[in-house]
Amino acid sequence: MPISVHRETATFHLYNDQLSYIFAVREGYPFHLYFGARVPDEPHYDYLMREEWHPSSVGVSAEHENMSFEHYRSELPFSGVGDMRLPMLEVVTASGGRVLNLTYQSHEVVAGKPALPGLPATYVEADAEADTLVLTLADEVAGVRVRALYTVFAGRAALARSMQVINGGTEPLVVERALSGCFSFEDTDFDMIQLPGAWARERSVVRAPLHPGLQGVYSLRGHSGHHFNPFVALARPTATETQGEVYGFSLVYSGNHAMTVDVDPYHSARVLAGVNPETFTWPLDPSESFQTPEVVAVYSADGLGGMSRTFHSLYGRRLARGVWRDKPRPILINNWEATYFDFTEDKLVEVARAAADVGIELFVLDDGWFTNRDDDFGGLGDWELNAAKLPSGLAGLADRINALGMEFGLWIEPEMVNPGTRVWKEHPEWVLHAPGQPLRPCRHQYVLDLSNPAVVDYLYERLEQVISSANIAYIKWDMNRSFGDVFSQTADPADQGRVWHAFILGVYDLYDRLTKRFPQILFESCAGGGGRFDPGMLAYAPQAWTSDDTDAVERLKIQWGTSLAYPVSSMGSHVSAVPNHQVYRCTPLKMRADVAYFGTFGYELDATALTDEERAEVHGQVSFMKRWRGLIQFGEQYRLKSPFEGRGNECAWMVVAGDKGKALVAYYRVLQEVNVGRRCVRLAGLDSEARYELREQGVDPQVADLYGRPASGAELMRIGLELTDETMGQNTTGRGDFVSRLFTLERVE
Ligand code: GLA
Repeated sequence: MPISVHRETATFHLYNDQLSYIFAVREGYPFHLYFGARVPDEPHYDYLMREEWHPSSVGVSAEHENMSFEHYRSELPFSGVGDMRLPMLEVVTASGGRVLNLTYQSHEVVAGKPALPGLPATYVEADAEADTLVLTLADEVAGVRVRALYTVFAGRAALARSMQVINGGTEPLVVERALSGCFSFEDTDFDMIQLPGAWARERSVVRAPLHPGLQGVYSLRGHSGHHFNPFVALARPTATETQGEVYGFSLVYSGNHAMTVDVDPYHSARVLAGVNPETFTWPLDPSESFQTPEVVAVYSADGLGGMSRTFHSLYGRRLARGVWRDKPRPILINNWEATYFDFTEDKLVEVARAAADVGIELFVLDDGWFTNRDDDFGGLGDWELNAAKLPSGLAGLADRINALGMEFGLWIEPEMVNPGTRVWKEHPEWVLHAPGQPLRPCRHQYVLDLSNPAVVDYLYERLEQVISSANIAYIKWDMNRSFGDVFSQTADPADQGRVWHAFILGVYDLYDRLTKRFPQILFESCAGGGGRFDPGMLAYAPQAWTSDDTDAVERLKIQWGTSLAYPVSSMGSHVSAVPNHQVYRCTPLKMRADVAYFGTFGYELDATALTDEERAEVHGQVSFMKRWRGLIQFGEQYRLKSPFEGRGNECAWMVVAGDKGKALVAYYRVLQEVNVGRRCVRLAGLDSEARYELREQGVDPQVADLYGRPASGAELMRIGLELTDETMGQNTTGRGDFVSRLFTLERVE
């Protein structure tokens, strides 16, 4: 994936087999020329940069009055030059002004991809996997230097951008806005796709045509949020799941983000992504620097599905880290919906024993194991065991669980504190709160000031002790409130603008230290369900609790939307009891599992309350998942039928092995309809030349054999998989409400 630099024309072309990204330096300024499907590596593409007179546009110089930042597409738009749109960089200089003049100084091409200090980022395992262009711009008058990083990956239709801002002068500066990347488009013939939501209904898919002006998503909650995931895509209006051009943008960040698309009256669109400037002010003394998070841009000529698979592979294999990255995930049982806060040690062991009997591998003790925690009004912050509830201690409980042949996992919520705890009393200055102003609670709890390194040290020491005190194989790291009155009681007035971002850096630091100290432990992130389901978290915790909503029907939408940017292996998904605790719906045990298989899989119910029949069914589900999870979690996912389309009554998706030898197809229908005619769904990703043995799970093979022969990949992809109720003969699995059907496909050699 060369980065070719044509010195005579100052043209930079980053490309691989799938994409090209081109810009050129003119009059000292880098201007964007093209981003999209691969084009030849020509010495220049200057015709894309004509000087044209536009009334009321500001020229770049007296010599080039017909060349304006407004009409040229700046690679790195900065403040004070008449660009007329939101910039990537805004700095208050020693003069008090915001006028910058950053010009090209030098560039360097480095093999591989440099790490971003203190920040999660995509990475390579060998230099041959990527090349990085480091572009240095400077403004000697203002004392500002910028190092812009562009990485192009080999064999992945993806680019990563970030920027380092350096005070290269002798006077203090204040960075008011430092975004991660800018992507420009010469036309606006796109729909913007975003993933809005709220608690228990995270990441729905919303698509709307671009319109003039500003549009986008952002968070001001302190975390990436349930409400607007740090993801947007631009799709051609005709682009679908399987074809057409789509550009996906995803910010590797867990705090307040802003991702905007700015459409000007000249039909050009600018995508900006980065740390939300609204809650960001970063003073820089001479020689100090600020590193932005990175934004990943994916190009797909194969519709949304192609975009998602590029994200899945990049995020699953080169963002997630550690021993669990490539390992099938343990099937777990979590006691939260089984007991909430109301448990005894013996009750936990009974639940675990019933789960072990059906083959479940990991028992997770959720909230409520520590002092003053019989409800959500107290306890967070001290992390001391409630010995009355757990007389054998964590170590004793873990031993009892291990004796059943299961691993033991534990819930923590490090970033929070409740009034009344020791840490609250001893360190009131560790709470984010402006003295004299009202305290602003959320779930009766407050946020510890992780922008203060002393707090991070305290949490590391406390949690290191807790985790090493027992045989712990898994940690669920929760974060259950949005922020309000963000003020660091230990920071100088001039540093208060750093606090929101510095908090997230503190979270990353704590995660980094704990995951390095306990490299064998599987971490799962969580934030009241999916309130911090973002690429930043994935770098530390390879899986995240997708949503507190465990209803199978609701989960179709939640898991579909999440899959736009995140791999199956990252989605925590559990079978829970009915009536469902969030929506009170009763769905069959089969459907609940058929949905939860497409994630990390586990149970969130009282296993002792299962009937014999249910226990046998769960046993079958666990055995099925053990056989198929390698494919499900690490195969390629194809979405087939969207629950966001039409009346949302049907949904289908599938996963295919890398060598196309095996696949698993799931079809879901919420309500039975009457007299609908033929149903079928076209499969994808198979080998069209191959034949596949097709089996429907839970159905007698004789009855299920629709085709009377192995079906060809070609017919399954072009004609489709037959799902008509009447074709099922004696098979009644396809009838009634809340139907789910699962088909395994194995290539016949
Ligand atoms: C959050 C999580 C739940 C559970 C509770 C415990 O809501 O999303 O899964 O852990 O906290 O308080």
